[in-house]
Amino acid sequence: MVPEAVAAMADELARVGNPSSLHTAGRRARRVVEESREQLAAAVRARPSEVVLTSGGTESDNLAVIGTYRARRRADDRRRRVLVSSIEHHAVLDATEALAAHEGAEAVLLPVDRTGRLDVAALEAEIARDPASVALVSVMWANNEVGTLQPVDDVVRLAHAHGVPVHTDAVQAVGQVPVDFAASGVDLLTVTAHKLGGPVGVGALVAVRGAELEPLVHGGGQERGVRSGTLDAASARAFSERAEQSDGSLPGRADRVRALRDRLLAGVLEAVPEAELVGAPVDPALRLPGNLNVAFRGCEGDSLLYLLDAAGIECSTGSACQAGVPQPSHVLLAMGLDPVLARGALRLSLGHSTTDADVDAALAALPAAVERSRGASLATRAS
Ligand SMILES: Cc1ncc(COP(=O)(O)O)c(C=O)c1O
Repeated sequence: MVPEAVAAMADELARVGNPSSLHTAGRRARRVVEESREQLAAAVRARPSEVVLTSGGTESDNLAVIGTYRARRRADDRRRRVLVSSIEHHAVLDATEALAAHEGAEAVLLPVDRTGRLDVAALEAEIARDPASVALVSVMWANNEVGTLQPVDDVVRLAHAHGVPVHTDAVQAVGQVPVDFAASGVDLLTVTAHKLGGPVGVGALVAVRGAELEPLVHGGGQERGVRSGTLDAASARAFSERAEQSDGSLPGRADRVRALRDRLLAGVLEAVPEAELVGAPVDPALRLPGNLNVAFRGCEGDSLLYLLDAAGIECSTGSACQAGVPQPSHVLLAMGLDPVLARGALRLSLGHSTTDADVDAALAALPAAVERSRGASLATRAS
């Protein structure tokens, strides 16, 4: 969290008042929440009345997918197909799979190309197959592991031609690329505070006024009755201040981060020439500025991660552990990477706090880590 957000949140936490109470303290807290809602809405070009505050990206994704499915199927029992890209975050994928396992949904995983971009023709064919059976389409704005920007405009055009609502998980996009909710035409958009230097545990689902959405959480009827629970004024304030700040500083910041990322990539390729860039080319129209994903054939991403961690470089692999065995990331497999290469992939994220010195440190640590990780993988295979 950036210091200003910590200060704003601490200031607000020190005050009392339930924003739903009618007394003076409650009315003051309500004002904070409503001003935050306005600020947040302005940052993503939505109306304040379209912002539903939640506990973060995971809850917003679940509310969008499950809430829309339930509402639309209740209105028409044929609407059982949920179309999602195969590279979605687990918050969307697992919500969809839960609907398939327990509520009669049919999960349709849409393919992506080698760069991680949605196959628009496949989406078109799936919708055309039986438009009346589609409950929802969910395609993220940008992928979290490889940074690939998605053709959201095409998704909206194809889905809306048949009256099908569209959700987009914009958790990675907001603050990194311009996100205009109104112009995009999507019905539902997920955003979270902790990607913007705000607190963990607060986010929003931006939902057009007429969105068919059944609440997942029942109670006091806050947030248009879609998301009950006492409103968290402190988190809302820190979140919205960060959203406004990130929006205002976006152009210069994105260019700075992109330059650092490009220097990191060039340095990696120079130090380890056989390393492979994973995902879209580093083109502003195709990839998030702060994302780098590079694969080192013959290395275990997780061992690289620990070796770099010991050198003070914190990164991630996207791999999941199943029954104690590391599995390559579902995103990389969906992109068609062979599993051996996918296991050597490393995601290096750069953000507002990343400096030139951080890039130098990563470049200084990487060659030795790759060497050691390769040696370890060879030794494991030999034994
Ligand atoms: C694309 C994407 N969606 C959803 C989430 C989950 O958001 P949260 O951590 O706020 O629950 C993340 C988290 O990193 C993400 O990258």
